[in-house]
Amino acid sequence: MVAANDFSLHALEMTNSQLSPPARLFVALDTPERAVAERLIQSLSPYVGGFKIGKTLFTAAGPPVVAAALAAGARVFLDLKFHDIPNTVAGATAAAARLGVHLCTVHALGGRAMLQAAQSALVALPAGATRPVLLGVTLLTSADQALLDEVGLTGTPEAVAQRLARLVIACGLGGIVCSPREIAGIRRIAPDDFIIATPGIRPRDAAPDDQRRVATPREALAAGATYLVIGRPVTAAPDPVAAAQRLLEEVAATERMS
Ligand code: C5P
Repeated sequence: MVAANDFSLHALEMTNSQLSPPARLFVALDTPERAVAERLIQSLSPYVGGFKIGKTLFTAAGPPVVAAALAAGARVFLDLKFHDIPNTVAGATAAAARLGVHLCTVHALGGRAMLQAAQSALVALPAGATRPVLLGVTLLTSADQALLDEVGLTGTPEAVAQRLARLVIACGLGGIVCSPREIAGIRRIAPDDFIIATPGIRPRDAAPDDQRRVATPREALAAGATYLVIGRPVTAAPDPVAAAQRLLEEVAATERMS
């Protein structure tokens, strides 16, 4: 088994303690337009820790948009949620590392062999190579009981998510992506430096959009989140920089209280 703290470089600078409020914030760039993404990168990169680039933007714009974010001095969370045979996922994970990203994701539903192959692919990179922290995605927040029954997974969504979280930890991944509701339970069973990234973040006065189980930044941090992933409340705001600054004030206020 590979321990999460076997990782150098990115992992060391991204441990849970002593992160500044901006370092905790990843803005999700869910647009197919490279120009829109690059405008957001230019305006927001002085204020936030990084950007989450997922399937929509990466499929449309590819590695150049990752390079643009890195060139702006931002961290990149490449959220492609790999799920395939172990050899293919190992290759994709190594390719993500070569892009220079800081975080990348695999689906825990791919199982132990796949998760370990992905983690081992990072360990096998040459000394001095940039290694992202590998995060396991447990159960998508869109998965409800009807979906689990449909695909033949036993137990409630909460039980399945917890089972998958244990698998991610046992396989030595560096962290997890989970809903705000699952953070506290995972924090109790995870190693100290385990990274918990959570979407579904909404400032108190914001619309939930299509998110069902939302939390404020304060609630997510109090439960033990390392990174907050937030998209539309910032990217769709009339003034994204002002929206990001309001969020950062909330994060900073939470840390002053803790
Ligand atoms: O715009 P919003 O803040 O809802 O964006 C949240 C981001 O987190 C989106 O990129 C979404 O795909 C992602 N995400 C999520 N729920 C999960 C996993 C990822 O909302 N369980």
